[in-house]
This record gives sequence, C-alpha cells and structure tokens, in this order.
Amino acid sequence: MSRSQAFFSLILLFMAKLSTLSFVVMLVIAAAVGCQNATPSEADETAVTNAVEEAPKLYEPSELAQLMRKMYEDNQDLKSMVERGEVPQSFPEDFYTIHSAVATNPNDINDTYKALAQTYIESMERIVNSDPGSVKENFNNMVTTCISCHQIFCQGPIPKIKKLTIAE
Ligand code: HEC
Repeated sequence: MSRSQAFFSLILLFMAKLSTLSFVVMLVIAAAVGCQNATPSEADETAVTNAVEEAPKLYEPSELAQLMRKMYEDNQDLKSMVERGEVPQSFPEDFYTIHSAVATNPNDINDTYKALAQTYIESMERIVNSDPGSVKENFNNMVTTCISCHQIFCQGPIPKIKKLTIAE
C-alpha cells in the first residue's frame, strides 16, 4: 500500500466511525424529544433519562412536556389523598397553563387540543368541588380526560397515565 492509499483508508475509517457516532446520537435525540409514540419499557425510559441527564444541552423538554410531567406527579399526590378518603381543596394553578404552554410540535395545539384541554381542566375543577361520595369517581373521570387527549396527540405515555386510575 502506498502512503497516500494508507492515508485515504485512514480518512475513510475515521468518517465511518464519525457517522456511526452521529447515528447513535441521532437515535438518542429521536428517543428523547417530544412525544414518544412507541410504548417505552421501563428500561427504555431509564436509558432515555440517563441520556438526557448526561447530555442536557442536547435535549430541553418543551414547556408543555415539563407541565405534563408535573401534572403527572401532582396528580399522584392528589390520588393518594383521594385514596385516603380526603377531598382535595385545590389543584396547582399552573395546570391552567395547559392552554398556553409551548409544545414540542406547535401544530398539535389546534381546536381539538384546546377543547380537550378545557375538558381536562373542568374535570380537575369537578374533583375539588366533589363531595366525599363522588370524589373517587370524579378523579378517575379526570384520568380518562388525560387519556382521551393522549389517544389523539401522544400515545406513548398512556400506559403510565393509566396507573393514576384508582382501583375500585
Ligand atoms: C389536551 C391534551 C392533553 C391532556 C388533557 C393531557 N395531555 Fe399529556 N401530553 C399532551 C401532549 C400534546 C404531549 C406532548 C408534549 C410535548 O412534547 O410538548 C403530552 C405529554 C405528556 C407526557 C410526556 C412528557 C414528556 O416527558 O415528554 C406525560 C407523562 C403526560 N403528557 C401525562 C399527562 C397526564 C398525567 C395528564 C392528565 C393529568 C395529561 N397528560 C393530560 C397532551 C395532553
């Protein structure tokens, strides 16, 4: 092999390595950004979380995605209250930003989204206006409104959201 041949094979090898690397990086970004339509396993979720934590500059979740995560966590707390037989007196004010938070795909925020967001907020208001006899049913109706919107816009988190349902 001549020196220039050796040099070119080195360049080719380097480019091949580089494209494998950027392919892996693209996979990680694709898995992490926005609505995950595939149903992720717990292991996938951990992998994505790790990737996100290791590369915070690559992936900044949208305002809406951050709100959704908070809604999920806060509703877990409300669920515990309802399971103890308490009627929550309020829910976090920032839930109302579901109408204005910027989504990963701004095109998602159409009239259907707006109507379903309104139905969701009303179902939250119904929980805090419940009497002890109806609070559990009203809580589960709220979870159904989460799922209704997700069936149209974002199927990935549905199995996770279903876990908010209070067993009969
Ligand atoms: C009006 C429609 C709508 C309603 C109602 C709704 N969601 Fe979402 N949700 C979305 C959309 C759209 C996204 C994608 C957000 C993005 O990537 O910007 C999303 C994303 C999510 C995510 C993934 C966030 C992430 O880490 O990327 C979770 C979890 C979630 N929602 C949970 C819930 C829960 C729990 C409820 C009810 C308490 C709920 N959603 C109600 C539309 C909705």
